[in-house]
Amino acid sequence: MTLFDIIFTGSKQALEAAKGVVQDAISKKGEEGKVAFPETAYSLPTFYAATGKKLGTLKDLKDALSIVESLIVEEQSLEKALNAGLATALSAEIIEACKYATQEKPYSEPCAGFISDAIIRSLGVPLVTGDIPGVAVVIGEAPSAEEAGKVIKGYQNKGLLVFLVGKIIDQAIEAKVKMGLELRVIPLGYDVTSVIHVVTVAIRAALIFGNVQPGNLGDLLKYTKERVPAFVNALGPLSEIVVSAGAGAIALGFPVITDQEVQEVPHYLIVQKDYEKMVATSLEARNIKIKITEIPIPVGFAAAFEGERVRKEDMYAEFGGGRTPAWELVRKREMAEIEDHKIEVIGPDIDTLGPEGGKLPLAVLVDVAGRNMQEDFEPVLERRIHYFLNYIEGVMHIGQRDIMWLRISKSSYEAGLRLHHLGEVLYAKMLDEFGSIVDKVQVTIITDREQVEELAKEVAKPRYEARDARLAGLTDESVDEFYSCTLCQSFAPAHVCVVTPERLGLCGAVSWLDAKATKEINPTGACQPIVKGVARDEVKGIWDSVNKAVEELSHGATKEICIYSLMDNPMTSCGCFECICGIMPEANGVIIVNREYTGMTPLGMTFGELASTTGGGMQTPGFMGLGRQFITSKKFISAEGGILRLVWMPKELKEALREKINARGKELGYDNFADMIADETVGTDPDSVTEFLTRVGHPALTMDPIM
Ligand code: SF4
Ligand code: NI
Ligand code: NI
Repeated sequence: MTLFDIIFTGSKQALEAAKGVVQDAISKKGEEGKVAFPETAYSLPTFYAATGKKLGTLKDLKDALSIVESLIVEEQSLEKALNAGLATALSAEIIEACKYATQEKPYSEPCAGFISDAIIRSLGVPLVTGDIPGVAVVIGEAPSAEEAGKVIKGYQNKGLLVFLVGKIIDQAIEAKVKMGLELRVIPLGYDVTSVIHVVTVAIRAALIFGNVQPGNLGDLLKYTKERVPAFVNALGPLSEIVVSAGAGAIALGFPVITDQEVQEVPHYLIVQKDYEKMVATSLEARNIKIKITEIPIPVGFAAAFEGERVRKEDMYAEFGGGRTPAWELVRKREMAEIEDHKIEVIGPDIDTLGPEGGKLPLAVLVDVAGRNMQEDFEPVLERRIHYFLNYIEGVMHIGQRDIMWLRISKSSYEAGLRLHHLGEVLYAKMLDEFGSIVDKVQVTIITDREQVEELAKEVAKPRYEARDARLAGLTDESVDEFYSCTLCQSFAPAHVCVVTPERLGLCGAVSWLDAKATKEINPTGACQPIVKGVARDEVKGIWDSVNKAVEELSHGATKEICIYSLMDNPMTSCGCFECICGIMPEANGVIIVNREYTGMTPLGMTFGELASTTGGGMQTPGFMGLGRQFITSKKFISAEGGILRLVWMPKELKEALREKINARGKELGYDNFADMIADETVGTDPDSVTEFLTRVGHPALTMDPIM
């Protein structure tokens, strides 16, 4: 059999299996039985993206089988083979959809099955910043658990997002790979068809970020090929179905690397039998480059360890978190004042705590100097301490400034991790990420209680206060420049954020100071200053300079934005926004919903559904993505009346922002304004919400008509 014949055989097998599964599901649930994947606005995403059709019932699935069939044309050409591969992907999607249609909970620990839209959106920023440099799909079975572990950890240590399908999952468990979304290793399922759950991640990325129109298969395949840095490792004996699924991956632009004897297709189907080289060959095949900073510490160091928790039972040492005094500070110094790479620990190290471990006070003082360093960048660098320390295996960092909280695990302690290693990490990473503004870094770690407390009073607190005063004085009016950010263009090619002191990027990760620092670090990079000049309309926030920049950077897609308006040319959204704001006409106001909230909203749509109506760099008056912090900014939809328009938000978000909401409300003449905002405990239907608003006398009801 030729490779093509194997592919055709596989796609026919997959189609037959899909037919059987659909028939079976219909016999259980009837033709009108509902079909839906959980927490997505994109129906069966592969089908929807490829054909523009949303499938909602088992009958729809049955009808869709003929589309799949039409894709299988057995001619010996690459094009037909790739189409057959897509057919296999569609069959797999149908089979998986039937699982969700007929079973209460088709996937259980450790397997994830279908991935929600919200998770995909949350991956936007780490993917564009290169924090997640790529996506590995490992399917099948390695010769041994040890080899499986080596390959998976190889990717994990480089920060890749790894999806596992098949027996490799058990091998990973046996090899003690730390798994879970927060650790970037996600077991999908044991059946080969569960691979579709990573395929739809790539496909929804195109719909969410890329503004690819459903039904435009050509654009879809171009997007995944050019913008989704994924590849497949197909390990162990290859069935025809796996080979044809591999053809599907290749159609999407994802190279397949296998340890089996197959006929190679240059760049796309590559044989690598040496497990030592599997990781390198795969990264090379997808052209994923990884910057490696060698850091001399006895435990792992990778972005993938960021989300790792250190639980009480596993903990050896603890600092801060209200239990001991602890703080961290990045301080700008003069070049002559510090000594590069000096790492000093003052006070007892953790090995003085005895076999049971314990608590210590802690001060982490990072002194930096450099010709391009500015005091304004201190908080930008300081916020990175959280990430750098979290990247250490067995170290958990929470909070910042003098509410920081650090834990070190027993196993990392036993592996030899000591406090000066934290200094090594901070030293290496500060230079690595901020090398163009920082020339010298010196780290002082103090555990001596008296000194920690004294320096807190004399050095840290005054510095925090000075910064807060600076931030409070930093308004849109007080600066000459705004910044554009186009970081998300690698996924959302038409999107531009305009970042101002009072409006941070919608991802929540880029403040005006961050943008300013980014410009300094990389003068030709993603953040560029926009010299504001005189406003054309101060209320709506229109500047000719801003419009010119936006038009240029969006390649003509957006010609005008009103920075302070929701209704009139609002800022575009890429897809990775923390929250979405949308109008609720019945209440003459707006609702806001955050990504974490999975319930219904009074607009009759979930976060995911609302989010799907805006994104990909489109302008959608009445809807926009935004960062959490922007909600309590003076400039939040100030053209429409600001926060007083806010009538509904999920309780959790409201509680997290309560103080700031109340402070902002008070400035506008309302005490305890947070209590006037409805949430899901009041209701998620327009009637109960408006009834509540009337009862509490919410100001939106009597404001000018919003539309
Ligand atoms: Fe993306 Fe905007 Fe955040 Fe920049 S500021 S990373 S463009 S969402
Ligand atoms: Ni960690
Ligand atoms: Ni984005």
